[in-house]
Amino acid sequence: MTSLYANAMGPSFIVPLAMNNRRQPEVFTLRRSLCDPTHVRRRSRSSLKTSGVTMAAATPTAQCEYTLHVDADSRKYPILFSEGVISKPDTFKPFITGDKVLIVTNSTIAPLYLNQVKSAIAATGVSVFDVVLPDGEEYKSLDYVSQIWDVCMEHRLDRKSVLIALGGGVIGDTTGFAASAFVRGVPFVQVPTTLLAIVDSSVGGKTGINHPMGKNMIGAFYQPHAVIVDSNVLKTLDDRQLAAGIAEVIKYGIICDWRFFEWCEQNVERLSSRDPDATQYAMIQSCKYKADIVSQDEKESGLRAILNLGHTFGHAIEASMGYGSWLHGEAVAAGMVMACEMSARLGWISSDVTRRVEAVLARASLPTRPPPSVTLERFMTYMSVDKKVEAGVLRLILLKEPGKAIVTSDFPESILFDTIMHYQQLYKESPGTYEHATLGLPK
Ligand SMILES: NC(=O)c1ccc[n+]([C@@H]2O[C@H](COP(=O)([O-])OP(=O)(O)OC[C@H]3O[C@@H](n4cnc5c(N)ncnc54)[C@H](O)[C@@H]3O)[C@@H](O)[C@H]2O)c1
Ligand SMILES: [Zn+2]
Repeated sequence: MTSLYANAMGPSFIVPLAMNNRRQPEVFTLRRSLCDPTHVRRRSRSSLKTSGVTMAAATPTAQCEYTLHVDADSRKYPILFSEGVISKPDTFKPFITGDKVLIVTNSTIAPLYLNQVKSAIAATGVSVFDVVLPDGEEYKSLDYVSQIWDVCMEHRLDRKSVLIALGGGVIGDTTGFAASAFVRGVPFVQVPTTLLAIVDSSVGGKTGINHPMGKNMIGAFYQPHAVIVDSNVLKTLDDRQLAAGIAEVIKYGIICDWRFFEWCEQNVERLSSRDPDATQYAMIQSCKYKADIVSQDEKESGLRAILNLGHTFGHAIEASMGYGSWLHGEAVAAGMVMACEMSARLGWISSDVTRRVEAVLARASLPTRPPPSVTLERFMTYMSVDKKVEAGVLRLILLKEPGKAIVTSDFPESILFDTIMHYQQLYKESPGTYEHATLGLPK
């Protein structure tokens, strides 16, 4: 047995990886009815009411309103979808428990949306305060959680006061964590403003901040009391951020519903061009998959890990390139192609599946290959500190078949090495084309 020694945090931090110490793959199946786009039924504006994840819409139109339910062990809560919903007092009223509300946002989003959310909440008759944090992943830290708590203390917020996270995943994660601990937990509402936050981070209750030695290392499972999705906010999101969110949309098809993947193949340009119907449909479907997975496995004891397809490779790319250089969704896109390539090398899927995944991501202007500077050694260094390493054993999310991901450590490490080296080889053979693919440029 070979074992690998990786050094991710500097010379003193040595983590052995013993991948040959294999465990049986964990195979999970989603409830089929929840994974089927044809099971989505349309609700008209006039007939809006709360539905379970098993109910809702055929190909929806942008003018419709929908409600899905997340049925996690610790809390049940709705995800509301409606255009213009963040300006309406009635949206927030059911979720306001006390007489004070604190909106947390950042300096980019505040000039765009803070006033309308603030006015809508104030119209319900409560006092509304806000805190505007600087914009950036580097501010997802304890210092800024502390700033939120300072404002809570200053305005004497109490157990019934509500925190509102108005922003992307950074604001959502930070605010959720602040809410989880202030007076041992106050209600909070997610108002996600990026596609990634809508389809992924705002749903499911993972909250937290970064530690200087590791991303998302400090946090809590703390479910929001509601998620309020207004697709209008995507109009101001830049194309690169939009594409990063599309990567996570496509991910759901790859991991749990190949028919949804095929829908993405047919509609990816509509998503990139912000077609309202296609965007609404993709958002609702994605949230249904996430809600179903979280409802079955809130604290990631098994099934929930499949949401991390491509993330172990992706995190290695993000960390190796320096956070912020590649967006999370971009790194995940290249990572998903690598996970498919590895699954094909294991003989679990055909290489045609990998080519299809690569093609649809490229059409969304996403990178499909790791940068050449992330060598085998670098991959192994960063992968060794992945949260999915348990007792020194690396677990990966791989595809057992199209639309069916598994969490497994049951693979020869030579196949992992070969997969990573395959990209180094491709780069040597045609550096120009290769760099094109790492920039997410169509071939
Ligand atoms: N909790 C979870 O389950 C989970 C899941 C995935 C990712 N995350 C976390 O989410 C974060 C990434 O989230 P993100 O991709 O939303 O990044 P982000 O929050 O940094 O937002 C990206 C950029 O877009 C700007 N922005 C946001 N909404 C905008 C809008 N409507 N118009 C114009 N600009 C807008 C932001 O100010 C920021 O500059 C990471 O910290 C990641 O760890 C958490
Ligand atoms: Zn992700």
